[in-house]
Amino acid sequence: MITFDILTLFPEMLEGVINSSIIKRAIESGKIKVNLINFREFSKNKHQQVDDYAYGGGAGMLISVVPIYDALISIDGYQKAHKIITSPSGRTFNQKVAEELAEHDHIIIICGHYEGIDERIYHYVDDDISIGDYVLTGGEIPAMTILDAVARLVPDVIASDSIKNESFTMGLLEYPQYTRPAVFNDLAVPEVLLSGHHENIRKYQRYEALKKTYLKRPDLLEKAELSEEDLKMLAEIKGERWTKSKK
Ligand SMILES: C[S@@+](CC[C@H](N)C(=O)[O-])C[C@H]1O[C@@H](n2cnc3c(N)ncnc32)[C@H](O)[C@@H]1O
Repeated sequence: MITFDILTLFPEMLEGVINSSIIKRAIESGKIKVNLINFREFSKNKHQQVDDYAYGGGAGMLISVVPIYDALISIDGYQKAHKIITSPSGRTFNQKVAEELAEHDHIIIICGHYEGIDERIYHYVDDDISIGDYVLTGGEIPAMTILDAVARLVPDVIASDSIKNESFTMGLLEYPQYTRPAVFNDLAVPEVLLSGHHENIRKYQRYEALKKTYLKRPDLLEKAELSEEDLKMLAEIKGERWTKSKK
C-alpha cells in the first residue's frame, strides 16, 4: 500500500484521476491512498495569497516557500516520506523511475504553478522530477502522471502478467495486439495468433516487439537484455546475416 499526499493549489484538477477507473478501484480496495492538500489553506495572508513578485525582478509570480513548508510539516510521517517536487529541471520521469518510486510506502508530491516555487523549497525535498522537456502551467499533470504510473505497479492494482510484457518493462516496446473481429475492413489478425501454437505465438510476439523497438525506439535496444535468439531475429529484421556472438 502506498500513500500519496499531493500538495497543490488546484486539487480539482486531480479529482478526475482519483475518481475514475483503475486508480479509483485501487483507492477503494485500500491498495493506495491519495490525499489532496490545498496549500492555499496554509497561507497566513488575509487574502490567502500564496504567490509574490520575485526578488531581482522577472516576469510572473512565484509561489512562496512558507505555505508549502507549513502544509508539508502538517503531514503525518512527512520526515520519512519520499518528497518529490515537480519541475521542468528535474530528472526525467520514465518507467524505471516509476519502478523505483513504487518501492516507497509514502510519497509526497509538490505541484508548482505560475512561475514556479521559491528555490528554498529544495531544502525540504528528496527528489526533483520532470515529465519531459516542455513547460506546463503547473505540476498537477506531472503529479497525475507520477501517481498513475506508480499506482499501477502496486501489487494487484492490475494483473502482474500485463505489467511483465509491457513496453519498457521488458526493455523493449510491446508487440502489437489484436482482439475480435478476426477480420476488419480486409485487415486480418496475423494467422499465427489464431493457431493456438504457444511456441510460435511466443516467437512471433518477440520478433514483433524487437521489430517495433528497432523501427520506433532503436535507442532502447542498446540497453535491452537480448538473447541469442533475439540477436538472430534482430539481424533478420535489419536484413543482416546473423553470426553467433562470441562470449
Ligand atoms: C510554468 S512552470 C515553471 C517553469 C519555471 N519557471 C522554469 O522555467 O523552469 C510552473 C510549474 O509547473 C510544473 N511543471 C511545468 N512543466 C513541468 C514538467 N515538464 N515536469 C514537471 N513539472 C512541470 C512545476 O511544478 C513548475 O513549478
